[in-house]
Order: sequence, then C-alpha cells, then structure tokens
Amino acid sequence: KKGNYDHFMQKEIHEQPHSLTTTMRGRLKDNSVVLGGLKEHLKTIRHSRRIIFIGCGTSYNAALAARPLFEELSGIPVTMELASDLQDRQGPIYREDTAVFVSQSGETADTLLALEYALANGALCVGVTNTVGSTLARKTHCGIHINAGCEIGVASTKAYTSQIVAMAMMALAIGADRISTQARRQAIVDDLSNLPYKISEVLKLDGEMRDLAESLIDTQSLLVFGRGYNYATALEGALKVKEVALMHSEGMLAGEMKHGPLALVDETLPIIVIATRDGCFSKQQSVIQQLHARKGRLIVMCSEGDASSVRPVESCKVIEVPQVADCLQPVINIIPLQLLAYHLTVQRGYDVDQPRNLAKSVTTQ
Ligand code: M6R
Repeated sequence: KKGNYDHFMQKEIHEQPHSLTTTMRGRLKDNSVVLGGLKEHLKTIRHSRRIIFIGCGTSYNAALAARPLFEELSGIPVTMELASDLQDRQGPIYREDTAVFVSQSGETADTLLALEYALANGALCVGVTNTVGSTLARKTHCGIHINAGCEIGVASTKAYTSQIVAMAMMALAIGADRISTQARRQAIVDDLSNLPYKISEVLKLDGEMRDLAESLIDTQSLLVFGRGYNYATALEGALKVKEVALMHSEGMLAGEMKHGPLALVDETLPIIVIATRDGCFSKQQSVIQQLHARKGRLIVMCSEGDASSVRPVESCKVIEVPQVADCLQPVINIIPLQLLAYHLTVQRGYDVDQPRNLAKSVTTQ
C-alpha cells in the first residue's frame, strides 16, 4: 500500500527513519553490536586473509560505501567485485577468504552464481540480504538480514541505506576485539543511534530537491563527483538518476577528475560535488575551485553551516546536510540524491516505480 504517497519509491525514501530503526533494532547493546547470525563465525572472519564484497548495482555500491570502515576496523584487505565480472574473469578466491554477498532480493542470478563459485573454492560465505528465506540466505554459511521491510519500487532506496548500516554494524562486530579502536567504535555506535533522527532532518530537503529537479529537467546529462566514503554516494546517486529519470548520469571519483572527466566541463553540464566534512574535505574544496575556474555549473553538497566554505560564488547552489560520523555520512548524503532522482522522474513524466526495461529482481544472466 502506498498510503499517502503517490509512488512506492517516494514512500520508501520517506520510510528510511523507520527502516533504519528496524535494521538496528536489538543489535546495539551496551555500546556494542550483537549480530546473532554472525557470532559463531567472527573468529574465522578475523583470521581471514582478505574480505571480498560481491554484489550488483545498488548492493555493490552499498558495499563500496562500507569498505573503508571494514578496512579501518578489521585491518584486513578488502576488495570489491561486481558479481558478473568475477565470473567473467573467474577471479581467484581462496579458502582463507571471507566472501560477503550483498543482495536486497537474495535472488540476483549473477550474485548467486558468484556464490556457487566462492563456495566451490572453499571461502567462508556471508550473506547480507533483505529477504528471509531467499536463496542467498539459505546457501551462505552465515549472515545478516537487513530488515528494511519489503521494497517494491524497482529503484532501491531504503534497502541501500539499511545495507550500509548493516555492514557498518558488521565492521564494528569484527573489530570488537581491538582496544586501539574502542573510542572510534563508541563514537560510531552513538551516531548509529542518532541516525534515524538525522534522516528525518535531511528528508526536509524534499521541497528544495523538487525545485532543483525543476532547474535540471531539460539537461542532457548530470555528473556526480565524490571520493573517500562518498565515492559510493556519487555512483549510487548517478545510478538512481539514470535508472528512474532516464537521464544520462555518471558518478565519478573526484580524484580521477584530471585524468579525463575535466574535458567535459562547461557552463551547461551540471556537476554535483559532494563535499561534506571528512578527511577529504580540503581536497574537495580544491576540486570545486578547479571546476569553477573552468566555468563548471556546480551544485555542492556540504555539511550544515559550511555553505560559505564551499561556495565559489554566491549564485552556486548548495545542499546543506546534517553531519554524522564520517563513515555513516553516505547514509545521509544519498537521501537528497534519491529525492532529486524521484522528482526528476515525476517532472519528466516517466514511470517512477517501474522504469523502462528494468526488473526488480534480475534472476537471469
Ligand atoms: O536484489 P539485488 O540487491 O541483488 O539487486 C541488485 C541490482 O539489480 C539492484 O540493486 C539494482 O541496481 C537496483 N534496481 C538499483 O536501484
């Protein structure tokens, strides 16, 4: 049921304070994280030589957002695999690996084939899914249900943020034996508890994003630049725009800007730069300056109160979002981009919940 909303995608975007609450329910205890489905396997994961994240589309992007925290808290190298590419290459997987499969539906054909492959190679296989009883949930050795509730819109929104939070909790559980990161873990747990409230705050940008969509309705193309924790936000924001608004959009690593993308910059091409506060902030400030020097049509996303530090000229559009721990910021930053994709789609007159040529669950190769 869509309730008071016009579309499932809209409903699912606005449901995120609740879906994130259910993702965390019963799992944050006495300032630590308890994940029943992983408890017995944490020791094996801590001793693995490599963690490999495997998924497709939005699920891959969620894993990419969680990757830096995994590396930081576990100290284990983390690699990323698009499920189809892993199969195409028959990339090496070993008994000493932990392979983490991320899939909202738990039924994506490419992800399940990659799972068969990892099982055959003896890796410990962990599932992160929204679907209890799915093939992924049944065939993996252990895992976490993200408990985001049923997602109907083909564009994944609430599952994305719940996947990131579930994987952040997983990173906290894996790193729980390390004294050196105790204060950091405590700060993240505190911010996890506040996250649903911060999401309701960022959802207030709805009207602003509707107006921004109006100003972009006729553009041919949209770029999104991110880095660090928000490289994934750039990829996921662009995926949403192309998937539902049927507008060409690319998410790019800002660090790669001078290695090609800079040639595209002119007065007409809108570029969203994600420049919220984290260890990459000053680098993003310099990216903004360089894009401005080439007369780029900039839209900057920054932390609340930072507008004057990021805006190269008064006329530059700025989206201010609440600040949380750097590793959780992707959960906040994707929301305005989900809203933008939603409004662009409605204004361009396309089908929001059932985009052209796409299926909710891709069960064939
Ligand atoms: O069910 P899954 O998470 O395995 O699906 C993977 C992708 O097909 C899916 O995330 C797709 O990219 C979304 N429709 C994007 O919104």
